[in-house]
Amino acid sequence: MAEFRSNEVEEYFKGKTILVTGATGFLAKTFVEKILRIQPNIKRLYLVVRASNTHVAIQRLHAEVFGKELFKIQRDKWGENFSSFLSEKVVAVAADVSLHNFGIRDQTLVEKMFEDIEIIVHSAATTRWDERYDVAMSTNTMGAYNTLNFAKMCPRIQVFLHVSTAYVCGEEKGLKPEEPFQMGQTLKGSSKLDINLEKKLIEQTLCELHAQNANEKTITSIMKELGAARANLHGWQDTYALTKAMGEMIVTNMKGNIPLIITRPTAILGTHLEPFPGWIEGVRTIDFVFVEYFKGAITSFVGDPNITMDMIPADMVTNSMIIALMVHSKNHTSDNLMIYHIGTSLRNPIKLSDVQDIMHLYITKNPWLKNYGKSKAFFKKFTFLPNYTEDHEFPQHKRSRLKRIINIYRPYFTEPEIIFDDKNTEKLRMAIKGVDNVNREFNFDPRSIDWKEYLMNVHFPGLVKYTMQPKM
Ligand SMILES: NC(=O)c1ccc[n+]([C@@H]2O[C@H](COP(=O)([O-])OP(=O)(O)OC[C@H]3O[C@@H](n4cnc5c(N)ncnc54)[C@H](OP(=O)(O)O)[C@@H]3O)[C@@H](O)[C@H]2O)c1
Repeated sequence: MAEFRSNEVEEYFKGKTILVTGATGFLAKTFVEKILRIQPNIKRLYLVVRASNTHVAIQRLHAEVFGKELFKIQRDKWGENFSSFLSEKVVAVAADVSLHNFGIRDQTLVEKMFEDIEIIVHSAATTRWDERYDVAMSTNTMGAYNTLNFAKMCPRIQVFLHVSTAYVCGEEKGLKPEEPFQMGQTLKGSSKLDINLEKKLIEQTLCELHAQNANEKTITSIMKELGAARANLHGWQDTYALTKAMGEMIVTNMKGNIPLIITRPTAILGTHLEPFPGWIEGVRTIDFVFVEYFKGAITSFVGDPNITMDMIPADMVTNSMIIALMVHSKNHTSDNLMIYHIGTSLRNPIKLSDVQDIMHLYITKNPWLKNYGKSKAFFKKFTFLPNYTEDHEFPQHKRSRLKRIINIYRPYFTEPEIIFDDKNTEKLRMAIKGVDNVNREFNFDPRSIDWKEYLMNVHFPGLVKYTMQPKM
């Protein structure tokens, strides 16, 4: 991989037109923020937003993206011109990735998008691990299919970045390579995966349920069970991982000659440095455990303290995406497919036992958090327990919800150690290493994270600030 020149990244994005799906989501908005910050002279950003019409899409973008604190540096920089800057650069597209051409009704807009778009970042997904199978299939699997088909209609397309997850690897112990899936591949030798058959199974089950006049609650429950059963049959831990893996299979095997990047982040946490440390949105993955402990709701949770927990700050994921886009755009490379694991377990591992110690330290250094405490247990040191059950510290009425949550989390926190190899990502890092400002501005080196400092002084305060309402 050739070395970079100091302004090459900014130059690359100058005048470019990018489509981003999942624009109201946590990761995509950190990507959009950084692109607009490093290169205000991009030509256009088409942001796909789930909405009934353009007006609602614009409103959502202003309320859920540009109005957020994440964009405060941009707002300060542009002052009263921020709105006009956005109107010039950003097109809100009311759309749904589960539909052909995203279900956009305005044909003139579709044609214009086909004509303009050079880069696609597909981040939209349902990230619920136990999602309904029909919803996860149409969003995570068919969403990838529809977005790739959209890309194929864009003659100027240079690169397609598909955001996947490192956990498509399943639960089996070991060093996981950055390798693509073959179409139909499963994680169990005994099964064969046919995506069309899975779709038919969903349609058939829905038909039967409707014929029986099943109510929405029953349909949801059966669709969740169906997803879990199919994931289990084919060797994945949950519906999310199965449908994300099928999304990968589709883009990998149907990309034609479009340069494809599949980025597989692990658990994404709050920003490390940019646009400022600690920004986060929503409570996902291990953050659920942190938040429940800080609230005083739990003092233990399912988990093996000896396993390595792979977590990565959001800005590092974004930086890696930006560098990968540049490197893999048509003009720069002959590689037609590259997979990147974006995580920390190989180069800067942290054990759950260390995480639990830092959680406790945070509580002791921030005693005001005790106002959240609903029980004396709040003052106990937090422990991850491999055999944790819902009976541990919960009253009867809360146990069934907790049991469901524990079952969802168990594979991620107790399975034998999984380490994500990141040779490809390391090559990307090496490409920017010698260029001082690029290396600094687009850092995604996990070795630069001091876990204790980051969790204590950046991520935990960010979580408290953005996802809990502190009771002082
Ligand atoms: N967060 C993590 O820890 C993590 C880890 C590994 C990989 N990832 C991957 O990273 C990507 C982004 O995740 P995230 O954390 O940013 O998720 P997120 O905050 O839940 O955002 C998901 C986005 O997808 C959109 N979306 C869902 N269904 C859609 C549809 N049918 N049509 C159009 N848009 C739709 C959502 O729109 P609405 O606002 O309308 O719901 C939202 O903007 C995903 O592909 C995920 O699999 C995330």
